[in-house]
Amino acid sequence: MDIERLKFEINGDERGLLVALERSSLPFEIQRVFYLYDTQPNVRRGKHAHKKCNQVLICVSGSCKILLDDGIKKEVVVLDSPDSGIFVPAGDWREMYEFSPGAVLLVLADQPYDEGDYIRDYDEFLKYYSIEK
Ligand code: TYD
Repeated sequence: MDIERLKFEINGDERGLLVALERSSLPFEIQRVFYLYDTQPNVRRGKHAHKKCNQVLICVSGSCKILLDDGIKKEVVVLDSPDSGIFVPAGDWREMYEFSPGAVLLVLADQPYDEGDYIRDYDEFLKYYSIEK
């Protein structure tokens, strides 16, 4: 699988750095934003796929690892920079882990929160996507 990496423009001067995300820097229109922080050591979050929801993940502080699995191939990416992110399409199983102390993982989503959009069982994920793909 080819993980789509996004690179954002940094606005920097002697005061510090700023990244602005506009519609043109993103693969979709944002409907929801959430962030994970204060993640405890040795925790693995996510462990689900979405039926419809596409997301962009940006580790705006610290670092974490993201495992993406499209049902055929798995890939791990390290997110460790506030000026880069990854596109996680609906249908990919994702797990987030190895959060550094103080890490903040920002998630931009193109759908509102809907528990019905989640597939939280790995076998169900494999079954669902072997039919859909
Ligand atoms: P959860 O899906 O378990 O997080 P993760 O997949 O990152 O481990 O979500 C934790 C809780 O937050 C759960 O009770 C659902 C709630 N939640 C919302 O209310 N809105 C949201 O947009 C998200 C992502 C979660």
